[in-house]
This record gives sequence, structure tokens and C-alpha cells, in this order.
Amino acid sequence: MGRLVVVSNRTGDLGKKTQTGGLAVGIGDALKSSGGMWMGWNGDVVDSPDSSNTQLETYENVTSLTISLSVEEHENYYLGFANKVLWPSFHYRLDLMDYRTKFAKCYAAVNRKFANTLHPHLRDSDLIWVHDYHLIPLASELRRKGSAHRIGFFLHVPFPSVDVFSAVPRHGWLRECLLQYDLIGFQTKNDVQNFCSYLKEHSEVKFLAPNLIKWRGRTISIGDFPIGIDVGQFSAMSHVSDKGIELERVRRSLLKRFQIISADRLDYSKGLPERMKAFRKFLDSYPEYLGRAEYLQIASPSREDVSAYADIRSELEQMTGAVNGKYADFNWAPIQYINQSIPREKLALLFRCSLIGLITPLRDGMNLVAKEYIAAQDPEDPGILILSKFAGAAEELGDALIVNPYDTNEVAQAIRKAATMPMEERKARHRTLLSQISDQDAQQWQNEYLAALRSVQATVPRSAPP
Ligand code: G6P
Repeated sequence: MGRLVVVSNRTGDLGKKTQTGGLAVGIGDALKSSGGMWMGWNGDVVDSPDSSNTQLETYENVTSLTISLSVEEHENYYLGFANKVLWPSFHYRLDLMDYRTKFAKCYAAVNRKFANTLHPHLRDSDLIWVHDYHLIPLASELRRKGSAHRIGFFLHVPFPSVDVFSAVPRHGWLRECLLQYDLIGFQTKNDVQNFCSYLKEHSEVKFLAPNLIKWRGRTISIGDFPIGIDVGQFSAMSHVSDKGIELERVRRSLLKRFQIISADRLDYSKGLPERMKAFRKFLDSYPEYLGRAEYLQIASPSREDVSAYADIRSELEQMTGAVNGKYADFNWAPIQYINQSIPREKLALLFRCSLIGLITPLRDGMNLVAKEYIAAQDPEDPGILILSKFAGAAEELGDALIVNPYDTNEVAQAIRKAATMPMEERKARHRTLLSQISDQDAQQWQNEYLAALRSVQATVPRSAPP
């Protein structure tokens, strides 16, 4: 069986368990079990424009191949095309999209740089699995160098509706780049539907079956492969004792208080201001919870050089101040806001002692935090997940309290419903959710995707790639 070669913009830290952000965790968990190679950017931005500082390191059964980005590449490829064009538009925020020709040029050039670095390390039998929106043109660049490998692509973020995707400058080029893969994987059935509708309207592909297309002599498969977590590992982390957190739990139980928890990258797609408004509405509508409900929002800093991220940060700081200013008492503050990354072990413990996991993104490819919250619960006294219908995870996790994150009344009522939910109902919902995330875990995700990739018929393109 061929070696697995995974390529993503950033490689995770295989030696640690602290990374947040679904992609690195999901791939790390999957790759450790099969072994192989992981190529990506090492996170360094260097002054010299042409030095890529290629590094090859081995961690147990995984070899990591990393490169640096130059200041210009970081600016135009990563911050520019990836995070000012693709990220906002794929999350339905065309208003935040900021397109420049130089972004698209550099995005293509960095994908070529990835291909140039990777190509000499490839063996003929390798199976190549490319991840996420940063690397859409990678297969096309590898094909240009003569690669006849089976190459699969997996999109971790949502694929937007036809109207939204067709508003993205250079969408036709992106489509042709995607069609250089042998398998195009998405998180949800809804993403697959959006992509197929787009192809039907905007290209001359022929549908051989609902998820199988023919394009310029090549056969390409399309499928949904919902990503999962390593349930056992996360659940084990939630058992490790931590004196500080334990004391807090005891304090809350003595005072008959409960904690609501949210953990996100500080990103406008996560719906943090809407969530704070909903919590404020909850306190307004149900004053009996004043002094009893504590909302802990962990927001890890992210992409701070993009102005939309700085804006959301100051908006949240203001909102926290306003809500706490209005309601806090000398011994109770309704919102605890932490703008830092928290190690995953600690997060697992915090999830376990929170009655409510409030995960309400405005759009999200999957949202693994929702799955982590479930994995961390004590089955004998489980907490309740409140989940946005616009998170990919909602397609699978129907036993959570599913809400519209824009409807602050609905979210406030869901908090109230969770706070008063009988233990039997909590346990029953948790049982179903736990079996769902255990069936569709990180290993299963990898197995299903790679089985599908292995079974596609690899073909060398007849026409020159775009
Ligand atoms: C999301 C994206 C990933 C990305 C992660 C962290 O989960 O889908 O591709 O790696 O966010 O974002 P960053 O910009 O810090 O890599």
C-alpha cells in the first residue's frame, strides 16, 4: 500500500497535544495512526524572498517536511488570498472580502513553491492528500510537473452556495484547479450539493452518477467525509486532575452556580458577539439566573494582521465590559473572557465541568470543539451541547439543542432549556451524541477518505492544467 503524503498550509505540532483549530488536530490524529509524510508551512516568516528554509524532521512514524514563507508571501498568499478572499467568502461574508490581483498571483506562486518542494520527495506509489482552501491549485501545480499520483483534496471549511461562490474573483480558475484532483471531499452533504450545483451551472462537466463526474477525459469523485476527533484520547484528558479547576467546580456547586463554556479561535465566523447578546438576553429574560450562570468564553487569538479580526476583538472587549458592568456583583461576574490559547488538556477539564457547551458559529465547516465538548462529558452527569444549525457538525449531531445563532431569543431560550433539563434527558441525548462521535471519529474519517481515494482511477490529465 502506498505511503500517505499529507499537505496542508500549516503542519501541526506532532509532539504536543496543545494545538487548537480543527485541521491540525484532525490530521495529526489521523496521520499518527497510519504514518507517512506531512508537508506544510512551519509558521516562520523570513525576510529573504527566495529562501524557503526546507526542513525535514521525523517524529515517530511521521516525517515532516516544512518550508518558510517570505514576508511578501505571508502578506499576499496567507493573509491576502487565503484569508481576505477565500476565508470570508466561503463563510458567506462577501462584505469582508478584499480582492487584489497580487493576492491571486502570489497564491498561485506559493502553491507552485509547495509543489516544487514536495515533488522531489515523492515516490511513485504515494497517495497524496491535500487539505483546505490555501492549497486549491496544488494538484494542478503537481500535474504540471508530471505527477500522475492519485491526489485527493479535502475542504475543511464550508463550500458556499452557487451565488456566493460565483461572486469570488477567479472562481472559474479555482474550479479548474479543483478538477485536477481525483477525489474532492467536503465536510457535509450540503457542501457537496453546493459544489455540484455550481458545477452544473458553471462548467461542462458530465455527471456519470450523482457524485461522479467526467471532465476533459478524467473521472473525478466527489463526496462528504465528516471529520471527527480521537474520542478516547480527548475523554482521557478530561479526567486528569487539576486543583485549580477542581476548586472552581466545588465553589460553583456550593453556590449553586453553573458554567456555560465556549472555545473558539477569535474569528468573525464564530458568532461571538451574537452569542454574547444571546447570553445578555438570557439574563434579561430570566433574572433568576443572575448570580448563578457564569459564561466562560475562551477566544484564542488568530490572524491578527487582518483588520476584520482586530475589529471583532475590540467589539468583544467592549461587549464583555458592558455586560459585566451592568450585571456583575461584588462576588459574581456573568462573563469571563479569556483572549488566549488554552492547552487542550485544560480545555477538556473545563468542558467536563461546564453544564452547557455553547457553540454557535454563523458558519463553520465542521466545528470539532462541539465534538470535543461531548467527548469530555461525564456520562453519569453530562452537560448539554447547544449547537448552531450553520456548523457542519449539526448535520450529524441532531441530539444537541440546535439553534439559529442569529436569533438571540432562540439561543437565550435554549440556554434556559439546558439549564432546566432533567437528568434523564441529558443522559439520553449525551448517549446518542457520544455514539455518533465515536462512530465517526478521526480514524473513521481517515479510513473512509483514503479508501475512496485508493479506489479512484488515477488518470494523467490530457490537457494542460490551468
Ligand atoms: C481553520 C482552517 C485551517 C487553519 C485553522 C487555523 O480551522 O480551516 O486550515 O489551519 O483554521 O488558522 P490559521 O490561519 O492560524 O492557520
